[in-house]
Amino acid sequence: MSVLDDDPTAPWPPRDHLIPDRAFGTRAIHAGQPPEPRTGAVMVPIYQTSTYVQPAVGEHLGYEYSRTGNPTRAALETCLASLEGATYGACFSSGSAATATLLHSLRPGDHVISSDDVYGGTYRQFNTVFAPMGIEFTFVNMTNVDEVRAAVRPGTTKLLWVETPTNPLLKCVDIAAMCDIARAASAMCVVDNTFATPYFQQPMALGATAVVHSTTKYVGGHSDVVGGAVVTSDEALANEIFRLQNGIGATPGPQDCFLQLRGLKTLHLRMQAHEANATALAEFLSEHAEVDKVLYPGLDSHPQHAVAAKQMSGFGGMVSFELKGDLARAERFVASCKVFSLAESLGGVESLIELPAAMTHASVPPDVRKAIGIADGLVRLSVGVEDLTDLRDDLAEAFEASR
Ligand SMILES: Cc1ncc(COP(=O)(O)O)c(C=O)c1O
Repeated sequence: MSVLDDDPTAPWPPRDHLIPDRAFGTRAIHAGQPPEPRTGAVMVPIYQTSTYVQPAVGEHLGYEYSRTGNPTRAALETCLASLEGATYGACFSSGSAATATLLHSLRPGDHVISSDDVYGGTYRQFNTVFAPMGIEFTFVNMTNVDEVRAAVRPGTTKLLWVETPTNPLLKCVDIAAMCDIARAASAMCVVDNTFATPYFQQPMALGATAVVHSTTKYVGGHSDVVGGAVVTSDEALANEIFRLQNGIGATPGPQDCFLQLRGLKTLHLRMQAHEANATALAEFLSEHAEVDKVLYPGLDSHPQHAVAAKQMSGFGGMVSFELKGDLARAERFVASCKVFSLAESLGGVESLIELPAAMTHASVPPDVRKAIGIADGLVRLSVGVEDLTDLRDDLAEAFEASR
């Protein structure tokens, strides 16, 4: 039977089009996106509509209002769920909106254990939005399993928030161990999988309750859209997330969903190219006399290389390193790059460079930054998919120019 024989009045796209028996690249291109039965459109149309006509009062064709649901968004939600090995997906207007919506499932008095070097905006949201509302947070070094276990407050800890690899120190947290601790405490274990992407890391298969993304990054992949997502296989949690998604309303528009769907179609190809370039640059930097330390999970010298190798099928496109010299030298270095652009964010096809202490993590207090190891001279690279020789030459020239 052809897809064109499908009932054109049935809700489209089908939410259960997860095609779990297909391989990753096939799901990235097709999951949630069977050809549209009324016209045969191969690509998911941009349903640029806020509302939908109803055949009769109380009857609809699966969609009533675009905050509640939109077919372009539904395709993206299903595709992301499929790629993460989850059943349900919900998309948001940013990664921060995805995090906040999930946090709204907690109640005053609930306790959260979080990695201490989460993305600065997540740290700020926890401390300045949710802590004043009565949610309690303990920030721990999640690479130390005993420290996490000791932080559990029986009956009160409701969520373990895991980011791995972390931003910007690229610490790798043992996801299965965190899920075990969460399960024993009857708490959720939620993994921010933005850096690794589902191509390199599958937290759901390791026991996570849900996975969160800033789809602004590798999912979108072209630095042209801001978005976020939560996926889960827990039906009760999914229903709560859908209720909050509709109630809070931080939903993405259809054009943004279209861009993310387009980005997803090459996720597997881009991640392979990001990783190949990042590996080569991490090795180049490791051998450079003016570099104190290189942080890349794929290097044998990385403190959690064994954890990374156990739970990741590749090590991603982010590399951080400490330059010898003071902050002024680091500032000269990043300003000297010509192929790497000085900018926040990450995960696009183009290479970016930044100083976390002065840029992405400026919202983390200096004493906290120091305690967790974000040195003023730490440089973070989002390694793009340009030709490696140009990237390597650019860094080599920046060493010269910044002396
Ligand atoms: C790991 C991680 N999680 C969440 C976010 C927040 O996402 P957004 O900027 O889309 O709100 C970011 C942003 O940089 C991030 O790096």
